[in-house]
Amino acid sequence: MRFLPLPLLSLISAALGSPASGASSNGDVLVGRAALEVAELLRRASPDNPSGSYAPATVDCPSDRPAIRAGGDLSQSETDWLQTRRNKTVDPMIEFLRRCNLTDFDAPGYVSQHAANFSVVPNIGIAVSGGGYRALMNGAGFVAAADSRVAGSTDTGGIGGLLQSSTYLAGLSGGGWLVGSIFANNFSTVVQLRDGYEGSALWQFSNSIFVGPKQRGISVVNTVEYWDDIKDQVDDKRDAGYDASITDYWGRALSVQLINATDGGPAYTFSSIADAPNFADADTPMPILVADERRPNTQIVSLNSTVYEFNPWEMGSYDPTVYGFAPIRYVGSNFSAGSIPDDGHCVRGFDSYSYVMGTSSSLFNSFLLQNLSDTSIPQVVVDALEAVLSDLSADDDDIAAWSPNPFYHFANDTNGSADDEQLTLVDGGSDLQNIPLHPLIQPVRAVDVIFAVDSSADTTYHWPNATALRATYERSLTDIANGTAFPRVPDAETFINLGLNEKPTFFGCDTSEFANASHIPPLIVYLANTPYTAFSNVSTFTPSYEDDERNSIIKNGWNVATMGNGTASDAEWPACVACAVLSRSLERTNTSVSATCQRCFDRYCWNGTTDSTAVVSYEPTPILTLDATSLGVVSVGAAGGLVYGVFGLAVMFLAL
Ligand SMILES: *[C@@H]1O[C@H](CO)[C@@H](O)[C@H](O)[C@H]1NC(C)=O
Ligand SMILES: *[C@@H]1O[C@H](CO)[C@@H](O)[C@H](O)[C@H]1NC(C)=O
Ligand SMILES: *[C@@H]1O[C@H](CO)[C@@H](O)[C@H](O)[C@H]1NC(C)=O
Ligand SMILES: *[C@@H]1O[C@H](CO)[C@@H](O)[C@H](O)[C@H]1NC(C)=O
Ligand SMILES: *[C@@H]1O[C@H](CO)[C@@H](O)[C@H](O)[C@H]1NC(C)=O
Ligand SMILES: *[C@@H]1O[C@H](CO)[C@@H](O)[C@H](O)[C@H]1NC(C)=O
Ligand SMILES: *[C@@H]1O[C@H](CO)[C@@H](O)[C@H](O)[C@H]1NC(C)=O
Ligand SMILES: *[C@@H]1O[C@H](CO)[C@@H](O)[C@H](O)[C@H]1NC(C)=O
Ligand SMILES: *[C@@H]1O[C@H](CO)[C@@H](O)[C@H](O)[C@H]1NC(C)=O
Ligand SMILES: *[C@@H]1O[C@H](CO)[C@@H](O)[C@H](O)[C@H]1NC(C)=O
Ligand SMILES: *[C@@H]1O[C@H](CO)[C@@H](O)[C@H](O)[C@H]1NC(C)=O
Ligand SMILES: *[C@@H]1O[C@H](CO)[C@@H](O)[C@H](O)[C@H]1NC(C)=O
Repeated sequence: MRFLPLPLLSLISAALGSPASGASSNGDVLVGRAALEVAELLRRASPDNPSGSYAPATVDCPSDRPAIRAGGDLSQSETDWLQTRRNKTVDPMIEFLRRCNLTDFDAPGYVSQHAANFSVVPNIGIAVSGGGYRALMNGAGFVAAADSRVAGSTDTGGIGGLLQSSTYLAGLSGGGWLVGSIFANNFSTVVQLRDGYEGSALWQFSNSIFVGPKQRGISVVNTVEYWDDIKDQVDDKRDAGYDASITDYWGRALSVQLINATDGGPAYTFSSIADAPNFADADTPMPILVADERRPNTQIVSLNSTVYEFNPWEMGSYDPTVYGFAPIRYVGSNFSAGSIPDDGHCVRGFDSYSYVMGTSSSLFNSFLLQNLSDTSIPQVVVDALEAVLSDLSADDDDIAAWSPNPFYHFANDTNGSADDEQLTLVDGGSDLQNIPLHPLIQPVRAVDVIFAVDSSADTTYHWPNATALRATYERSLTDIANGTAFPRVPDAETFINLGLNEKPTFFGCDTSEFANASHIPPLIVYLANTPYTAFSNVSTFTPSYEDDERNSIIKNGWNVATMGNGTASDAEWPACVACAVLSRSLERTNTSVSATCQRCFDRYCWNGTTDSTAVVSYEPTPILTLDATSLGVVSVGAAGGLVYGVFGLAVMFLAL
């Protein structure tokens, strides 16, 4: 027994007998569903695992045998896609800039004049941090506000159209759930996802993932059947000859809430995004998820850990350690020294959509491991968990096992996992870089501006103090950055004392800071979770949310993104967003900055001032009137939050 739910389920089964089956096995309904799914196959991220299940499948290799490529450039697929995407951002960007009301500069005319020159057209990235459901919801508020399809986003004070103008949308951990859910569901709007569908568990966070959804034609939760299905799915993978880790189960459970398909779509693959027409036609930004490497026989993840990314075509790393990318569709094949042996078969379906989302958020595994000693958890539960978990750590199975390791015997001299048949990946925030900036600061991507949405729980009461930005900045000064620059950011005290986490703040405005760097990194627009209309500082491990609470946190995220639709303190905020978007481009074309933009930079650029006075307690007051529906989550202690999460799991057992 190497894994948590398995023995628990055995216990549960032993106690209760097998759950009754058949409640939902009406033949007609299933046929109807299958037909629907076939139709959907052509339209969105899809269940294209050849096994039709969660198990990877052995297939014949294509004549152009899959291989690992070196990380010096973008993939050919991304390069080709960018040709279309950069072009398709031009019209939305012109519209967006027009709405932003830069009265003293013809921004739409500027972009339109240079529309054929992609080194002038601003290249925009959005990065959504980790932080569990808090990060999903706060990040969703930003994405909704930036999405011109969402009602209200293009009204006065709005920033709608920024999403349509963007090239990249990166997510990590809880932010990866958001990005993953958007792309698994046909690039739906946040409003569509939030409001869900009759009979669908999509974004129904009121029943925790420990308990399972209300669905399957019966209006009550059936936790036993829910976990039993998940167990069966992961057993399929194990039976096919692959290791399973806690992450497999977590990912499957998450998908029930994030992927709008029967049982959370066990056969959905991440690589299927590449075939979804809206992505393939470059009508959406490019999604990227992030995870960190943990080297063999170590428990430590630090700033010099290798950072991996997952995109629709590839997984791999631009770090000089691995400096290589695998075709994600064929991960699971026995790559060795970069290729699959001539007599070897190929594997597809290892890149399960849920496994990618689970890998980026594997913190939710270790959080279980770390919190067993709390006295509020019934001893009988602790005993059961500890028995399992001691085996787990012995087997080093508390992580996301990517086995076989696609980078086996690849980059032997620098790749710390080159001799290991397993690539061990963990939550993308484990190295403290909790905002997925890494993919977007790579010089080969030439991003001009990153909207960095930070929902980290840094302070005692779960507000961000920019630890994530500092981590990325500090990493940029070390060898593993391989020359990738990042703007300087101040200490946590300065963020709090100067209120840099209570209003948007720009970093890297003055490019003379990069005089000694080999390139100019993107401007960072830092948007920290802060209370406008809701106390959105719920604990990372709070497992369930009533609809009202979910909606008010999403709305708060919208208000952070728009400064309360410009009503909070700055009706010019949309113009300032436009200035941030244009900044690098204007500099490249030696175009002088308008008075409006100069005022914006004076207001929002960090100018190097610090105030490192010790902070006693950081308890921000709401910037606007609290939402009637806001539950007013004030001052939830960090420890209390952690306990609550484990308690959620405990409740699952007790409920049985
Ligand atoms: C996906 O979204 C597009 C609009 O972007 C729509 O035309 C299409 O019907 C949607 N497909 C599905 C399966 O919902
Ligand atoms: C952008 O797209 C338009 C319309 O499809 C096309 O005419 C134009 O050549 C494209 N421009 C570039 C630079 O690819
Ligand atoms: C901003 O606009 C959105 C969409 O119309 C709305 O939901 C939100 O409540 C507005 N915020 C404020 C502070 O009025
Ligand atoms: C731009 O200004 C016009 C006229 O004052 C106003 O109607 C519009 O809502 C403004 N746009 C934004 C995004 O604030
Ligand atoms: C979600 O599922 C429902 C019911 O099957 C369907 O009507 C709806 O179109 C789906 N939504 C998306 C975004 O795929
Ligand atoms: C960096 O990684 C090496 C292993 O490659 C380790 O020995 C060293 O302690 C790490 N340094 C820091 C500062 O974490
Ligand atoms: C980054 O690292 C790789 C692999 O170690 C090396 O080949 C490449 O030249 C480096 N790039 C830069 C910009 O230093
Ligand atoms: C990969 O290698 C393992 C171990 O040698 C073997 O069991 C498995 O069958 C191989 N898979 C394929 C698809 O060749
Ligand atoms: C890496 O090392 C292994 C064993 O030490 C060797 O078999 C393999 O060929 C090496 N890879 C490369 C690319 O040199
Ligand atoms: C900032 O956050 C870190 C955790 O990310 C925490 O250790 C530190 O105490 C915080 N400092 C302040 C002043 O909030
Ligand atoms: C594109 O713009 C850059 C920056 O202004 C300029 O150096 C380059 O010559 C332009 N390329 C073309 C084809 O006009
Ligand atoms: C820099 O910003 C601080 C507030 O963050 C302000 O008090 C100070 O006047 C600014 N200094 C300059 C030179 O603009």
